[in-house]
Amino acid sequence: MTPAVYKAPPASNLVENAEFSFTARDLSVIAGIMMQEAGIALSESKANLIYSRLAKRIRKLGLEGFEEYCTLVQTPQGKEERKELVAALTTNVTRFFREPHHFEHMRAKMLPNLIQRARAGQRIRFWSAACSSGPEPYSMALTLLRDMPDAGRYDIRILATDIDPNVLAVAAEGIYDDSQLAPVPEASRQSWFRPLNDGSGRWQAKDELRQLISFRQTNLIGNWPMKGKFQIIFCRNVVIYFDNPTQERIWSRFLPLLEENGALYIGHSERISGTAEQGVVSDGVTIYRTRSAGGSKWQSV
Ligand SMILES: C[S@@+](CC[C@H](N)C(=O)[O-])C[C@H]1O[C@@H](n2cnc3c(N)ncnc32)[C@H](O)[C@@H]1O
Repeated sequence: MTPAVYKAPPASNLVENAEFSFTARDLSVIAGIMMQEAGIALSESKANLIYSRLAKRIRKLGLEGFEEYCTLVQTPQGKEERKELVAALTTNVTRFFREPHHFEHMRAKMLPNLIQRARAGQRIRFWSAACSSGPEPYSMALTLLRDMPDAGRYDIRILATDIDPNVLAVAAEGIYDDSQLAPVPEASRQSWFRPLNDGSGRWQAKDELRQLISFRQTNLIGNWPMKGKFQIIFCRNVVIYFDNPTQERIWSRFLPLLEENGALYIGHSERISGTAEQGVVSDGVTIYRTRSAGGSKWQSV
């Protein structure tokens, strides 16, 4: 009698009628890498999205399927592809003057004092902590330039960071089309963008606008290189992708970097949680101000 050969049941496919098979094991490898590299929590409910974004990478690399792709990204030779994986699975949706009330608050409540201080020679810093392709830091700069058109002559600057080098390259170039620039007031567009004469109908941020912003790759769950304090931090629509402990850790890391009474603007479906809650007071919808040192009980974790 021939011995029975055990045959593992075929791993069930998470995406029906698809070109490549995509199993729970593949998903767990990919989710593990996203958590480790970017702090982003992915569940099975995102299977279709993960499949469609990574199937493009698999075709581009000429691989046979997800099994081979997962083997690659787990090896030392797959280091570069791990970065591509993170870039492919992060959501980069953004737009100019998104959540306009943040820019109205910044202009009315923060800028009058900060402009005065900059004119008096002080160092003033803003941070766009997940800037994507740039509309957020450019909107911050345009808000500043409305009331301080000569900002470039003073020590007032914006740091714009993101984990994804591809979106940072777009941001640094500062080229946008008419529909992207639609929320920008006409006078600001005329003053701070120039039309590209290549027939594409696109516009590029002028040097005076771009020079207010420094673009740097920074992973929010990694080391942060900055040392000095900020007066304003925008961290919007990114921590929503992290698990709760990671969110709490990030909020608590912002606080020591914000000067007293500084402003932290967060995304519309986010809220400050954990120990950082005690270090801030609400100053509007998804707007927080740092308490004075004496009045705070929070601790950085
Ligand atoms: C939805 S966009 C938000 C852009 C902008 N803040 C806004 O609200 O319009 C999220 C951005 O977070 C970035 N991101 C994701 N994980 C990150 C991490 N661990 N560190 C830094 N940036 C990250 C993504 O690359 C993406 O550009």
